[in-house]
Amino acid sequence: MSRKKVLVYRQLPPDQLARIQQEYDVVLANPRVPEESAAFLDALPHVHGMIGSSYQIDDDLLAQAPQLEVISSISVGVDKFSLDALYRRGIMLCHTPGVLTETVADLLFSMVLATSRRIAEMARYVQDGHWNRSVGEDLYGWDVHGKTLGILGYGRIGHALARRAALGFNMPVLYQTRSAVPSGLPEGKAQPATFRELLMKSDFVVVVLPLTDQTRGLIGSQEFAVMKPGAILINGARGPIVQETALLHALDHGTLRAAGLDVFDIEPLPLDSPLRNHPKVLPLPHIGSATHETRQAMCEMATTNLLLALQGKAPLASYTPTTK
Ligand code: DGY
Repeated sequence: MSRKKVLVYRQLPPDQLARIQQEYDVVLANPRVPEESAAFLDALPHVHGMIGSSYQIDDDLLAQAPQLEVISSISVGVDKFSLDALYRRGIMLCHTPGVLTETVADLLFSMVLATSRRIAEMARYVQDGHWNRSVGEDLYGWDVHGKTLGILGYGRIGHALARRAALGFNMPVLYQTRSAVPSGLPEGKAQPATFRELLMKSDFVVVVLPLTDQTRGLIGSQEFAVMKPGAILINGARGPIVQETALLHALDHGTLRAAGLDVFDIEPLPLDSPLRNHPKVLPLPHIGSATHETRQAMCEMATTNLLLALQGKAPLASYTPTTK
């Protein structure tokens, strides 16, 4: 009997690739690499499983893969997939929650520090040879400890961020979620707030929400207008949750002090994006989970998910069809 086929559409560590190759015929083709995109499309009609990330898998693409049973995403976010089509087709979608929580929270908190203390800008100042006397007021940053941190989305990553802020930096934390959840912190350290209240009271507004129809464009000109003067926005979730034009306006003409952005509407960020060299923006190349340890853990989990699901067993974490 011929073996089932798996399409690996992002680079996997050799040990994880070997686990898949032991049981399945593997096609390696990254659709974002021009020389490999034809091989990716050619493989679709024959594949039973796919593993990868950061590529839009839409209805048209799924229609070309009639035998597909499982997609294992090397990500926690599932916004790259047409969930309705997967649900209709009974294709299981697996993802990697949990293993990246602390790493993403580390990065988010580093953006809080870096924007407020102007770390990247000050490093450039030294590198560019401008440091020839003690810095004056124009180059001072702002304190982080004791300031109010607002977290939009209070799942695993939101909790991990709150812990860092409240317990490490003595910051009052406000958080907003759709359904009531306990703060997970000692009494008085973190309070639930309404969306508006959080925007009005927070010195830092950190976005950790999934991208859905409800969160797309959530932060626009009205939201920037009610934010506390001098507030800083950190987006470590998905670019389209924040309206980029409104963000630029708030930075240039409003009272937003700075923005730390690990995610953008279009990624990689186009060279002509006004956000790329904006003096008040700390732009990062979507590196929330990008450490050696965590990317390895994500690849391992995604590989295990794929293998279990293709064997008809329950994966470690699946998103569809049960949770459409
Ligand atoms: C995730 O896991 O969703 C990260 O944002 C990487 O895409």
